[in-house]
Amino acid sequence: MAKILLVGNGAREHCIAETLCRNKNTILHSYLKSKNPGIISLSKGFELGNYNDLEKVKDYANKIKPDFAFIGPEEPLNNGAVDLLNKLKINSIGPAKSLARLETSKSFTRNLLRKYKIEGNPEFGIFNENNIGDAKKFLDGLGQCVIKPDGLTGGKGVKVQGDHFQTKKGALDYCNEVLQTHPSVVVEEKLEGEEFSLQCLTDGKTVVATPPAQDHKRAFNGDKGPNTGGMGSYSCENHLLPFLTKKDVGEGLKITQKAAEAIYKETGEFYKGVMYGGFIITKKGVRLLEYNARLGDPETMNVLPIMETDFVEVCNAIINQNLNKIKIKFQSKATVCKYIVPKGYPDNPAKNEKIEIGAIPKDARLYYASVEQKEGGLYTTQSRAVACLGIADDLDDAEKIAEETAKSVKGQVFYREDIGTKKLIEKRVSHMKDVLGN
Ligand code: GLY
Repeated sequence: MAKILLVGNGAREHCIAETLCRNKNTILHSYLKSKNPGIISLSKGFELGNYNDLEKVKDYANKIKPDFAFIGPEEPLNNGAVDLLNKLKINSIGPAKSLARLETSKSFTRNLLRKYKIEGNPEFGIFNENNIGDAKKFLDGLGQCVIKPDGLTGGKGVKVQGDHFQTKKGALDYCNEVLQTHPSVVVEEKLEGEEFSLQCLTDGKTVVATPPAQDHKRAFNGDKGPNTGGMGSYSCENHLLPFLTKKDVGEGLKITQKAAEAIYKETGEFYKGVMYGGFIITKKGVRLLEYNARLGDPETMNVLPIMETDFVEVCNAIINQNLNKIKIKFQSKATVCKYIVPKGYPDNPAKNEKIEIGAIPKDARLYYASVEQKEGGLYTTQSRAVACLGIADDLDDAEKIAEETAKSVKGQVFYREDIGTKKLIEKRVSHMKDVLGN
């Protein structure tokens, strides 16, 4: 039997829970900040609590004494949940706080790549209250730029020239604004190209890539509207993407392997968990946009449901550092995930609205995110509500299944119909060709 403590409450964690529970020996216990009906139905026990209430996490871990913990979201990683569990001699899938800086500190990652001469960095500068006077000169030497607060911002702090501000003065003003709340700000050249997510599993020595996926940040069809946590994503049966070559994936993996090695050299600790690289293919090659220290949401849904290898075995290999001894296999299937979100999301989401889910296709999966099961049904909160996943032999069929599933969800909600469709994929391919000058 494997007693596992899962921390997290979203669709990503529902999907992690389902994948862990495919192993009949799993006994799952969950620590979550809201009652996700999917996770709770898979759990033998659960505890509700916030991710900064480490005493509560500690008490629950002490009570159930799991064989290991799986930390889903970045917040508990940033709060030191893994360090705390370590003290209780409980291993975790997820890095300690200092290693989670890979996600929580943009400057840490940029400096790490620079120091260890790892390719993948764009041109960048890091500014704080002592050297902000130099930022104007740096900005003047760049083409268009991107400004990133140095810390967790829930995906909302990054601002891009052309989208969020237009001029170098606008960039400088935003840098100064960021420094009111963050110790430093990272200024980067704006990169043009197509993005892909490469979620890698690592025991600190061996790094294994899962199939690449592409997320869709904008709220509305046609990549319009505000940025969101991610409206949906897709992956292909050949474990590439229509605009992505094997060489590109190889470059992303190589950068991640070198980064894992560099982290060990820098901190003396092995990184055990997920290194999820957000990459972009540019005319000059593959560049790293950012690392996340956890699985992606929605991209988890593109990889775990098609993992053939027992996920508990994979987790044990991460903990025992023998990931090199196992082969992690994935089905040759395409996946399309569409998120159902409350009307008004992300700026003014319709909270506490009842949603109803009708009949869904045979090959569809549903993963609950920010919904609450109450007497009388399922209700929206303020974030993404339900992830609808189609799995099939090709993208077309996977999209149809995801679409039919998404349509079956009724209430004050919406979703992006275009994710995974031929039309949008062709747009991506043609954009890539333009960028590469083909
Ligand atoms: N897909 C974006 C994220 O997980 O942060």
